[in-house]
Amino acid sequence: MALQVFTAVTGASWESTLVGALDRNAHGVTVVRRCVDVSDLLAAAATGTGQAALLSAELRRLDGEAIARLGEAGVAVVGLVEPGDDRAAARLRQLGVDRVLPADSEPELIAQALREAVAGAAEPGRDVADPSAALPALGVPDTPTERPAGRGRVVAVWGPTGAPGRTTVAVGLADEAARLGVSTLLVDADVYGGVISQVLGLLDESPGLAGAARLAGAGTLDLAALVRLAWAVRPQLRVLTGLARADRWPELRPGAVGTVLEEARRLAELVVVDCSFNLEDDEELSFDTVAPRRNGATLAVLDAADTVLCVSGADPVALQRSVRALDDLRDVLPDAEPVLVVNQLRRGPVPGDPRVEIAAAVERFTGRAVSFFLPVDRDAADAALASGRTLAEVAPRSPLRIALRSLAVAVADVAAPSRERRGLWRDRRAAG
Ligand SMILES: Nc1ncnc2c1ncn2[C@@H]1O[C@H](COP(=O)(O)OP(=O)(O)O)[C@@H](O)[C@H]1O
Ligand SMILES: [Mg+2]
Repeated sequence: MALQVFTAVTGASWESTLVGALDRNAHGVTVVRRCVDVSDLLAAAATGTGQAALLSAELRRLDGEAIARLGEAGVAVVGLVEPGDDRAAARLRQLGVDRVLPADSEPELIAQALREAVAGAAEPGRDVADPSAALPALGVPDTPTERPAGRGRVVAVWGPTGAPGRTTVAVGLADEAARLGVSTLLVDADVYGGVISQVLGLLDESPGLAGAARLAGAGTLDLAALVRLAWAVRPQLRVLTGLARADRWPELRPGAVGTVLEEARRLAELVVVDCSFNLEDDEELSFDTVAPRRNGATLAVLDAADTVLCVSGADPVALQRSVRALDDLRDVLPDAEPVLVVNQLRRGPVPGDPRVEIAAAVERFTGRAVSFFLPVDRDAADAALASGRTLAEVAPRSPLRIALRSLAVAVADVAAPSRERRGLWRDRRAAG
């Protein structure tokens, strides 16, 4: 049976020729509806009569939300851009469209892209048995010649105790951002025991972050060293693993962690850091004392971050913990503006509509809005953990994956204005 396709390319000069050619010839594609705009396309998608959409970059009001909704409706997307318009192509990719072609491509090529997009949940697998062995196969430069110009952004994924889902969000955010074409480094900086290597099925023997911090402490950390210490999971995704043994926390000196993040910004456009929960420090807060403090590394990350995500659970106990944690954060970093992500959203623990009630309660107690809600999705989360793979790999259409992709679109989309923020390390940072 032919693939049923919606098009939304109205206005483009090549529309009728292309749609005609696609439809007419034996490409295995039937255009079931020509949509005039984004709302028309979303309405068509909701009818369940098509498996794929062909849209043009010029489509007005096309955003990540629309692409995510197409995904939710089970409609795979292929984008078309004016030949040579690389910016439009990059934008479409950033919105979550993995397959983008010039509009003058042969109809057969376009039809093939549509078929691949529909088949496509399965992306190329990876072999992670040995990071250096995987490098040439994946086409990853083992010298950092292809690094993006400019300064990457650091996003700290933090939150209170009680396993609200910091690691799940950090891994999902990094993986999705990488899939959106953003070069990403995921850093496991949980000083209470890092689990990212396990979560991603990496056979990790030595924590990359500790190695990098050691070199930073010795003043010998450079980009090449950082590349060596990080796993290249895919061309756009590298991982600096953390301390599997919590008692090794003194290896993560705050100053060194800060230096590692500075170098990390040169390696990747986006640096996602999975943090510990604790901020308390029983002595005066200061980074640069001789005796290391366990939570100093977390503070160093939060202080270096351009964006701090505060991940909260969605039940009353978890929300209460988040309120307290946000108070603590205000004490140590008064100018930080955490972005609230309420995870594990479900009906039950909160009466009424949980989104509405939680948003209202959070606003009341913290004066802050909830920026993102992520649904509880036990099946998808368990499938990912069981296989040591990411949600995009094991449950690409799951609600949690789709929500994490929208989060990544929002986080990665911000055009890097490194926010002027007074932090404890401001001067040092400015100097570096
Ligand atoms: N949205 C979600 N739906 C279902 N399970 C989740 C979700 N987020 C996290 N989990 C699960 O909750 C547990 C704790 O999550 P994790 O990310 O390790 O928390 P943290 O890093 O905050 O300690 C894990 O088993 C994880 O799979
Ligand atoms: Mg964790």
